[in-house]
Amino acid sequence: MTKFLITSALPYVNGVKHLGNLAGSLLPADIHARYRRQTGHQVLFLCGTDEHGTPAELAAQAAGLPVADYCARQHAVQADIYRRFDLSFDHFSRTSQAANHKLTQEIFLRLDAAGHIEARTIQQAYSPTDGRFLPDRYVVGTCPHCGDANARGDQCEACTRLLDPEALVAPRSAVSGATDIEFRESRHLFLKLSAFAPALRAWLDRRNDWPLLVRSIARKWLDEGLRDRCITRDLSWGVPVPKAGFADKVFYVWFDAPIGYIAAAVEWAEAVPGRDWRDWWQGGDAVRHVQFLAKDNVPFHTVSFPATLLGSGLPLKLPDVIKGFNWLTYEGGKFSTSRRRGIFTDAALDLLPADTWRWWLAANAPEGSDSDFTVERFVDGVNKDLADTFGNLVNRCLSFTASAFGGTVPAGGQPGPAEQALVARLDLELAALCRHHDGLALRKAAASVRSLWKIANSYVAEAAPWSVVRHDRQRAAVITRTALNLVRLSASVAWPFIPKAASLVLMSLGEPADPPTWIGDGAMAISALPAGRALSMPPLLFPKITAQSLLAAAASASP
Ligand code: 2FM
Ligand code: ZN
Repeated sequence: MTKFLITSALPYVNGVKHLGNLAGSLLPADIHARYRRQTGHQVLFLCGTDEHGTPAELAAQAAGLPVADYCARQHAVQADIYRRFDLSFDHFSRTSQAANHKLTQEIFLRLDAAGHIEARTIQQAYSPTDGRFLPDRYVVGTCPHCGDANARGDQCEACTRLLDPEALVAPRSAVSGATDIEFRESRHLFLKLSAFAPALRAWLDRRNDWPLLVRSIARKWLDEGLRDRCITRDLSWGVPVPKAGFADKVFYVWFDAPIGYIAAAVEWAEAVPGRDWRDWWQGGDAVRHVQFLAKDNVPFHTVSFPATLLGSGLPLKLPDVIKGFNWLTYEGGKFSTSRRRGIFTDAALDLLPADTWRWWLAANAPEGSDSDFTVERFVDGVNKDLADTFGNLVNRCLSFTASAFGGTVPAGGQPGPAEQALVARLDLELAALCRHHDGLALRKAAASVRSLWKIANSYVAEAAPWSVVRHDRQRAAVITRTALNLVRLSASVAWPFIPKAASLVLMSLGEPADPPTWIGDGAMAISALPAGRALSMPPLLFPKITAQSLLAAAASASP
């Protein structure tokens, strides 16, 4: 038994997330955590809200709330949505809390003591009207290269060139529109990342089994040469910098956020006597740390966070696997939180059960490339897979058992050639399913689950117990018992993806539901349910859906 430390990128606290955020880290991490628990492993699944940084401050200002209150509210909103999506975190933390402040400061002090930190004077945009320093991307102006009037101080979106805010023509504040931008000198602390390049390269070179997406982004960063990174900001909301001369600054959000993964384990351990966060973060090879995140987060997780961990000198684990995702797009374009384009997680839950979204987003995960959500594909996919295949299997097997065998698992008879052939097919597909889960291949794992549902449906259709029962009750009993076991198998393998519906089915079969028993092989799969067990009928699991209701939701989420 291996221990699995599973983390999903910590969503920014400001604003309810869209389906793309769910598909590109939270949901895959949950599916993997469930699979590992189901197969008997010890799992610690951690996430939380990423609460520092200018966007949170500005959102609080816009909401007319002190930033700490705003974050507390928004954390609760997101936590509730994820609970309703059945994301099975062992702890959902907050980076603004004491454990993260303490650990961030401790790690910084160790980095500083080891000579990995350097103070430098830099120019920072300041707006007297706003009364604050402005991070690069909050200074906007005309791009000196292409003339676009809305270039940001870090990058021009129109021509994609990287910029310095000082290069902008007619700079103004993105916060207020004020044009009184000054560039003031400010002392800041830099993490000397360049020194870690050889160690990071050696570490990454041993990761040939990681997704190509992650390896290529990480390698590109290393190949371009690591630049020392400014880890402090002239803001008041964040983790205070414990160093003389820097008392008015806080750490850059990307310095403290990943430390939040460790702080989440600290909080989890503090809640119950006998738990120890070190068993997970300092557990060496006995623990496998799997990180789930979207591609824009890859550099922070393959370069700056590992360098922070290495430089701290603490015996903290580096991730064993980083599973990065491409983007989920929405009807051919980007999901956008600022423009409210796409379907948001709260609106999604108002419309359909979590399982419906979970299934489609996993089966169409943006793994090898971006993946496009369209209402048409979604409706078609969930109707086919969930209503016609899984739901139909459950419904027809249980209703036939009710009508022909009084709602109990029928006894008598011996499996024959049809069941032997079935076992062989199940063995192949179950092995494929485990291989895909182990390899974090989410779409393929979902496809294997779908194949198992199809194998079950075709066995039942070909064996046709409703005809056989008229002339050979013994044989019909074998088929029905096998079919019921196939329902159990279908629900069990589905549980990581659609936990609610799978649990309902397993409970109606009198089986453990959280987690369900894992199905070892085909022979076990078709002989698990004891003859004579009384069954009940689950509610209709997946009524067919129409594009109309979905389009209405999408419209209500738009401005
Ligand atoms: O991109 C994001 O949503 C970030 N808030 C992810 C942070 S992951 C971790 F490092 F905290
Ligand atoms: Zn430009």
